[in-house]
Amino acid sequence: MNKLLAEKVAVVTGSGRGIGAAIARQLAHHGAKIVLTDIDDKSIKSLESELIQAGCQAKSMVFNVADFAQIREKIDSIRNLFGRIDIWVNNAGITESAPIESITETQWDRMQDIDLKSVFFCSQAVFAVMKEQQYGRLVHISSMAGERGGRGSSASYSAAKAGVINLAKSFALNGGQYNITSNAVCPGRTLTEMAKGLSWLTDPKDDPKLTIPLGRFGTPEDIANAVLFLASDLSSYITGATIDVNGGLYMR
Ligand SMILES: NC(=O)c1ccc[n+]([C@@H]2O[C@H](COP(=O)([O-])OP(=O)(O)OC[C@H]3O[C@@H](n4cnc5c(N)ncnc54)[C@H](O)[C@@H]3O)[C@@H](O)[C@H]2O)c1
Repeated sequence: MNKLLAEKVAVVTGSGRGIGAAIARQLAHHGAKIVLTDIDDKSIKSLESELIQAGCQAKSMVFNVADFAQIREKIDSIRNLFGRIDIWVNNAGITESAPIESITETQWDRMQDIDLKSVFFCSQAVFAVMKEQQYGRLVHISSMAGERGGRGSSASYSAAKAGVINLAKSFALNGGQYNITSNAVCPGRTLTEMAKGLSWLTDPKDDPKLTIPLGRFGTPEDIANAVLFLASDLSSYITGATIDVNGGLYMR
């Protein structure tokens, strides 16, 4: 039987660990040829070997999403390698739990560069490829903080993630006529390395049994399942949408 993503070429930014690595595994196990990109060469090389050993097609490539001058060049080399790019997941991101009064301009700019500006310029460059193909699936990892503001995450993170939700809609509006869909996923509290720096992981007030309707924190696989759906043709009539994967912690 054909796999869900057979013959599709997928790129996941920040796929060295955490949510990005889970997304890459999920897409690869469903048949996509996967390009693993991250600033951390070691982690993507190790995931590349794991996936190849499991019989998947995978290629790692060092790619700093905030190195704006390099984005087109990287996207051209992926296209030259695989002939096309069907799925692009903007996942790479950083967070900070700085109090609102102490955020400096440098911190603000770094956050916007990595968490928001990169999403626009990566999507813009890959949009041209997808338009030529008359096919594309853009998936953007935002955050619950982008919907409601963030206690425990800085205002700059929340603002960037709100921008990501809005960009998902702009690419949806511009991409529909070319069979390009663009959707956002908003994870809630998800157990990754990033979470280790955040207060909700250890604060007894944030005990998931008391605060989250489904009674637990999220796993990277929970997020990857939603991305798989949006990356596949099961979601072919969904665009400009935001899917919450937060165990019911925040309901719009
Ligand atoms: N963990 C959570 O609770 C949570 C909640 C909501 C949203 N998110 C979002 O999910 C995404 C993944 O988060 P995570 O928890 O897996 O984080 P993580 O810190 O565990 O992993 C992030 C990955 O991105 C890579 N990365 C960082 N800067 C990069 C850059 N400039 N270019 C390329 N790669 C870069 C890192 O090397 C790392 O491999 C992020 O966008 C994050 O904001 C996470």
